[in-house]
Amino acid sequence: MAKRIVIGISGASGVTYGVRMLEVLRETEFETHLIISKAGKLNFEIETSYKPAEVEAMADFVYDNKDMAASLASGSFLTEAMVVIPCTMKSLSGIANSYNENLLVRAADVTLKEKRKLVLVVRETPLHVGHLRLMTMAAEMGAHLLPPVPSFYHQPKTLEDIIDQTIGKVFDYIGIEHDLFKRWGEQRKALKGPHLKSETPGLLF
Ligand SMILES: Cc1cc2nc3c(=O)[nH]c(=O)nc-3n(C[C@H](O)[C@H](O)[C@H](O)COP(=O)(O)O)c2cc1C
Repeated sequence: MAKRIVIGISGASGVTYGVRMLEVLRETEFETHLIISKAGKLNFEIETSYKPAEVEAMADFVYDNKDMAASLASGSFLTEAMVVIPCTMKSLSGIANSYNENLLVRAADVTLKEKRKLVLVVRETPLHVGHLRLMTMAAEMGAHLLPPVPSFYHQPKTLEDIIDQTIGKVFDYIGIEHDLFKRWGEQRKALKGPHLKSETPGLLF
């Protein structure tokens, strides 16, 4: 059976992360099942040069967010994991409260109840305590909270490098092999050679 991964794209800033996720997953054995919220579709128009239909064409299966009878609404439909990328505070709230008013939130709820991996690439700043509480609630239920916070020790040169680092962190958690960013140990060798004298991180890190 195909290894299925559910991708939810909600209307937070950074819908381009969702596009990159789909793009990279096409090079893997995973079968992609995509839900884009109405606000997510709007943000493609605002933030990118993609039409929602072009993004949907990158996935193997596409669902209407209003279709509560879709396969993804049931735990009997087997999937490996789900990633909401990016994840709004609204969708986070729906997930944390099991308020399953659309397919994206319902599919996330199913992922949690079936004890499968759920990654929430939550995006908002600054965060009030209500946001923080919702994240805690979701984490307590088993979600993996992975905000798109860049690191700089791998010395990103482009926006793509920064985006790929977050995608790589998601892949690490799900267990998908990748070469999307240089890891700490690898980077130190590449930058300073194999005869590094001190293990203490220097200015570069
Ligand atoms: C350009 C734009 C950027 C937005 N960025 C964020 C964001 O980063 N985080 C967030 O929680 N909401 C953001 N929003 C608001 C959400 O789109 C809005 O709350 C929406 O109702 C979320 O619905 P959804 O979770 O079903 O996609 C943004 C809206 C727009 C138009």
